[in-house]
Amino acid sequence: MSGLDDVIAAETALSDVDGEAGRLIIRGRSLDDLIAHFRYEDVLTLLWATLFPECGAVDRLGAELGQARAAVFELVHAVDAHLLGLPPVDCIRSLLSRLEDGSGLITALRLVATPAVLTPAVIRLARGLDAIPPDPALSHAADMLRMLHVQPASPAQVAALDRYLVSASDHGLNASTFAARVIASTHAGLTAALVGALCALKGPLHGGAPGPVLDMLDAVGLPAAAELWLETTLARGERLMGFGHRIYRVRDPRADAIKGTLEMLAQSGGLDPERLQLAEAVEHAALKLLARHKPGRPLQTNLEFYTALLLEALGFPREAFTCVFAAGRAGGWVAHAREQVLRGRLIRPLSRYVGPMTSEAA
Ligand code: ACO
Repeated sequence: MSGLDDVIAAETALSDVDGEAGRLIIRGRSLDDLIAHFRYEDVLTLLWATLFPECGAVDRLGAELGQARAAVFELVHAVDAHLLGLPPVDCIRSLLSRLEDGSGLITALRLVATPAVLTPAVIRLARGLDAIPPDPALSHAADMLRMLHVQPASPAQVAALDRYLVSASDHGLNASTFAARVIASTHAGLTAALVGALCALKGPLHGGAPGPVLDMLDAVGLPAAAELWLETTLARGERLMGFGHRIYRVRDPRADAIKGTLEMLAQSGGLDPERLQLAEAVEHAALKLLARHKPGRPLQTNLEFYTALLLEALGFPREAFTCVFAAGRAGGWVAHAREQVLRGRLIRPLSRYVGPMTSEAA
């Protein structure tokens, strides 16, 4: 059954994924340019400028995002024992759904702020620690790390998380963004669209992959063991997490961006070089085995592989990796949901009936 391969289901002025060339363009700029020169707040401004008339200059949006972080911290009071017992992504989804629905900039900012503020809070509460209130004066990435660790993060750590958030911010019509657009096309509101998007992100074929990538690295253990472990896994019919992509036929450019960020972090002492060596050995063996396993289907490293190492090095626990992904992708979800409402129509494709048919009904 088709997974809508090659179907163009929306027109967008937000981002373009060129799977043959391995290029990601966001608002006309390459990922490399964005990573080098734009903070997450700047990318939000790029994505949202033509969609929200109230969206001002980047400094103003950054300050408003800081205020939104402070406002959504109130949701911490809704975190009870039941929510803390859920996987973090389900806990964040439940908290996100408590935001008032709307279509304006304030709702948009609060939706982006919620995973950024509540992810560190939920991680700390689950460990029996107090949640740390946001500091609206900090950058989004710096504040996320401070809310997690209490102490201010180093400039290299802040830059690393910021680069990750930028890399994750938007990526064409991926599954979660498509879910957001479908919901937005019914005029259900931005909050409804983002809750649905987060549900789609959770799956291991999409944003749920980086936690299992770390499980794989731990199971492999040593670089020399990589090939045998991966071969056995493939022989069992299992997929290698962090490899393959529906659109990319070459390496995912975000994987290179995150790998470069890891090398930067390693130079500043913020990453165990042995962990990077293990990941490189696993990647090398996986690419060799996947080429043999599926000769007609180029399966390359995707964003999630090195993301796992980066988020681990920044101190996020693996069960919360999808929530950090959501903190970055929320900006893109909002932009697509808003674009769908302003420029699109109700999304309502057809299905082909292949079920039973009685003679009476035929
Ligand atoms: N390991 C082993 N085999 C794979 C992998 C993999 N990582 N990826 C694809 N294949 C195989 C499939 O088993 C399938 O084989 P078959 O034709 O014999 O059934 C073939 O390649 C094609 O796979 P599809 O699922 O049709 O390809 P699709 O384009 O839909 O898959 C996907 C893309 C879901 C990302 C897939 O590559 C995968 O499951 N990867 C592992 C999970 C992962 O890393 N997810 C994160 C994606 S990036 C992101 O969402 C941000």
